Amino acid sequence: MTRPTFAHINLDALRHNFNRVRQFAPDQKIMVMLKADAYGHGALQASAALSEADAIAVAFIDEALALREAGITKPITLLQGVFDQQEIELACEHQLDLVILHAEQAKMLEAAQCSKPLRIWLKFDSGMHRLGFSADEYVSWFQHLSAHQNVAEVRLMTHFSCADDPDNPVTAEQEALFDDITGVLEAPRSLANSAAIMGWPSTLRDWVRPGIMLYGVSPFADWREDHRDLRAVMTLKSVIISTRALKAGEAVGYGGSWVAEQDCRIGVVSIGYADGYPRCLPSGTPVLVKGQRVPLIGRVTMDMITVDLSGMDDITVGDEVVLWGEGLAVEEIAERAGTIAYELLTNISKRVPRLYNK
Ligand SMILES: Cc1ncc(COP(=O)(O)O)c(C=O)c1O
Repeated sequence: MTRPTFAHINLDALRHNFNRVRQFAPDQKIMVMLKADAYGHGALQASAALSEADAIAVAFIDEALALREAGITKPITLLQGVFDQQEIELACEHQLDLVILHAEQAKMLEAAQCSKPLRIWLKFDSGMHRLGFSADEYVSWFQHLSAHQNVAEVRLMTHFSCADDPDNPVTAEQEALFDDITGVLEAPRSLANSAAIMGWPSTLRDWVRPGIMLYGVSPFADWREDHRDLRAVMTLKSVIISTRALKAGEAVGYGGSWVAEQDCRIGVVSIGYADGYPRCLPSGTPVLVKGQRVPLIGRVTMDMITVDLSGMDDITVGDEVVLWGEGLAVEEIAERAGTIAYELLTNISKRVPRLYNK
């Protein structure tokens, strides 16, 4: 027996969301974002389920090598490129594509002993101001690297800082700057993340780079209106492990932060912050018990939470609890925690087994 707390991963929903990407971007190649273990869903299982994707992206080389070791032969891009020259040589050996982010990385690539030339994505800083070449150096680096023996092909990319806000003019400005600077270059282009795929159609070029929408999460702040037929992939579940009656005035849990205003009944659920259910979630956060919304009460502890079961006399030990996923949007829980769904999904701990449907 194992603790009945699982992250159920619905690979049909993942494939459905991939098909939604296809509908938004029918003429583009699709590079699926499988970094951070596919946003907490399991990169191996996700890459097997997304066999129709044209390429995979991860953050750094260890994530890519784990996929190669498991037999994944698709093109894999390292979004952060490499940290030293040795990694370039490893990337050659395993045929990994690099994002080249700045002059130091470009020089490392030129100096490396490559067994085979590499495909690279040359990143343009169109306004994120974090990584990428600036407007005055981009074209010369493109020309320089295109002619280098270690380089098989140079592709062009940029990343949006505000595409999740449909009213923010910055996205159109970034797009215009990218077009202005790269207009003369003949090479495949990639601009769009999930928010741009769904909200900024003019940014769809040769390749799109969906992440969060694959996992069924709206990239938009107003996700209630803008869910656009995405299906939750992860449903985080546990069970009621104990119930008890409380008298008015009795406090629950550490710090006694929640006090019963009247006689009530509470349940204890086997999930806590060590599993990745955030400690900062306040009393009142919704939890589904046997499909019904009930409020979290008191503090989230390492392994347990408590919920108010007043008026639900039929609930007993072993009954199912959903923390987020099908029936309870992870976006809503993220809002309560003052964060974004990306953080909740990627923070689910290794001690929570993932259960996959086929
Ligand atoms: C360069 C790049 N492209 C695309 C994505 C995917 O973004 P999203 O998950 O918002 O679709 C990311 C994610 O952070 C990224 O770093």
